[in-house]
Amino acid sequence: MAGAYARAAFVLALGCALAAVAAGQEWLRAHATFYGGADASGTMGGACGYGNLYAQGYGTRTTALSTALFGDGASCGQCYKLVCDRKTDRTWCKPGVSVTVTATNFCPPNWSIPSDRGGWCNPPRPHFDMAQPAWEKIGVYRGGIIPVIYKRVSCVKKGGVRFAVNGHDYFNLVLVTNVAGPGSIRAMDVRGSRSPDWMPMARNWGANWHSLTYLTGQGLSFRVTVTDGQTIVFANVVPPNWRFGQSFASNLQFKL
Ligand SMILES: *[C@@H]1O[C@H](CO)[C@@H](O)[C@H](O)[C@H]1NC(C)=O
Repeated sequence: MAGAYARAAFVLALGCALAAVAAGQEWLRAHATFYGGADASGTMGGACGYGNLYAQGYGTRTTALSTALFGDGASCGQCYKLVCDRKTDRTWCKPGVSVTVTATNFCPPNWSIPSDRGGWCNPPRPHFDMAQPAWEKIGVYRGGIIPVIYKRVSCVKKGGVRFAVNGHDYFNLVLVTNVAGPGSIRAMDVRGSRSPDWMPMARNWGANWHSLTYLTGQGLSFRVTVTDGQTIVFANVVPPNWRFGQSFASNLQFKL
């Protein structure tokens, strides 16, 4: 990433727009770097908790978000369309291309570097640290960092929403993956098959939601509300004989 530092003065001159979190659909300014290697193997895992991104269907079209965009995990699963800003950088921007990525990770601040000389992910900068193959769709490798314009877009996913049940008795940690539409979850409840009541779940970390209710041995239903307000009830998506560590696919999906 030596190229990134060499270009710091140039980037500084851009006068980066410190855009607020992308709530609307307008194009906003940010910058983008890459990580994780040419095969994106270094992007597996990540602060949203999706684990193996190939197996989960996210592939190499993924990004880490800076503090300003990550929202403490609330943005996990959101999709962004990025274009390299060729008006600002003709050298390292590839022309006429865009790439759409899903937020799967957090790009932490590094307080020992100024935000205009390498601390790209420091608040309040909006910044995308993208999986290298996704970044190379729009940027030339040697550039290291590129100016981008971006907007939130609907996530297109194959198949239904999936749930992985982890944790232990009295602590169910449920990872929700493959969420289409807005991609990010606002609220979630669980209902055991022996209970008449929905119990609220809380975001634990990333796309993991937890419940402290004793649910072992019961079938599980989830009621999920995504950030555009759509709600789906995934009735009995988890059968009563589930074990911790198992994943379950629904055949329901949010609208784009
Ligand atoms: C922060 O940046 C400094 C200087 O480049 C580097 O030595 C250090 O490893 C970085 N810290 C983290 C946590 O990445």
